[in-house]
Amino acid sequence: RVVAVIMVGGPTKGTRFRPLSLNIPKPLFPLAGQPMVHHPISACKKIPNLAQIFLIGFYDEREFALYVSSISNELRVPVRYLREDKPHGSAGGLYNFRDLIMEDSPSHIFLLNCDVCCSFPLPEMLESHRRYGGMGTILVIKVSAESANQFGELVADPATNELLHYTEKPETFVSDRINCGVYIFTPDIFTAIQGVSTQRKDRANLRRLSSFDALDSTTSRNLPTDFVRLDQDILSPLAGKKQFYTYETMDFWEQIKTPGMSLKCSALYLAQFRFTSPNLLASGDGTKSAAISGDVYIHPSAKVHPTAKIGPNVSISANARIGAGARLISCIILDDVEIKENAVVIHAIVGWKSSIGRWSRVQASGDYNAKLGITILGEAVSVEDEVVVVNSIVLPNKTLNVSVQEEIIL
Ligand code: GDD
Repeated sequence: RVVAVIMVGGPTKGTRFRPLSLNIPKPLFPLAGQPMVHHPISACKKIPNLAQIFLIGFYDEREFALYVSSISNELRVPVRYLREDKPHGSAGGLYNFRDLIMEDSPSHIFLLNCDVCCSFPLPEMLESHRRYGGMGTILVIKVSAESANQFGELVADPATNELLHYTEKPETFVSDRINCGVYIFTPDIFTAIQGVSTQRKDRANLRRLSSFDALDSTTSRNLPTDFVRLDQDILSPLAGKKQFYTYETMDFWEQIKTPGMSLKCSALYLAQFRFTSPNLLASGDGTKSAAISGDVYIHPSAKVHPTAKIGPNVSISANARIGAGARLISCIILDDVEIKENAVVIHAIVGWKSSIGRWSRVQASGDYNAKLGITILGEAVSVEDEVVVVNSIVLPNKTLNVSVQEEIIL
């Protein structure tokens, strides 16, 4: 049997995701109309003999209760949310719940970061992992040399795929192969994590006894003994010891730390729906439906006027109303939004219950990595008729009656 664990983090981790994380935990923010965490969860469906899926985080249980029960029913696999009382780090969080995770005596444990967007080739990873025979296999991808330092950089043996060297977000270039935040382990991983924690306890005791600080020159000196990071504390020291191997994906992969990236990842997941869930894509045929171009998701409860033109890369959430002649391109429209007649929305995220007036424009350049590269309206923002909002971020509950450009409206 196999279990899957998805690390969802907690409220302090999503600060770069503001203002969108102000009223919803980042893992539940919709990409292609489904909560972010839904994409790795549904990828787990392809794992043979999957017994359970655990979400581990330090958000309040209540925030996940509804989602967890509905997805369990839908997948017919138990999905449980396990709450940490405080952050224990990516490996410490796993270790904290080892008894529950080992309940079904799984032979393998998948561990997935919830804030990555990829095709999650999990069965392929499992197969390679069995062949390698190590303690763990890491999903890796080749990225540009300039962007590699935002991630864990690693070197693998080209013949055996063994992990030879690992450095987390290094200052000087190591490799353009990076850690995708998707792993498979044998239960031996718990022994490895325990080893780090014990070693740290011993050192702390030694320091107390000898007040000899120079014994420990690592950056982990001031970390609590139960805080263990998978990357720095496990992968780095165990690289080159025939314990970890790599599986390289040739498919898409992105990390979702900012609202701009959520718009890009929404596009990637919509494109994937063509193969995995074509029923979720709006087709635009039939005389009464709006003109659809490219990949578009429209929630069944949304009302879109037949003269509106939608797409590509648009997702429209529950109860949104899109008026006559409106034009939507590359945007995420959240629940209960109203877009009035002839309004235009391009490269933008429109927050819950917001409204956009007649002939208004909410738009941006569409540079996903720039701070103001997409326009974001927080919850309940009202853009009045004929107002133009360009490359701006508007915090919740604001009313805009004049046009703005390149502004953050607090
Ligand atoms: N439950 C829980 N508890 N989750 C946590 C904790 C914790 O204490 N700390 C982090 N996480 C979750 C985050 O929500 C995220 O999904 C994942 O674990 C990794 O977060 P970080 O440890 O902050 O690392 P990162 O995202 O900056 O980088 C990691 O992922 C990259 C791929 O996206 C590293 O492993 C990089 O090497 C890797 O390239």
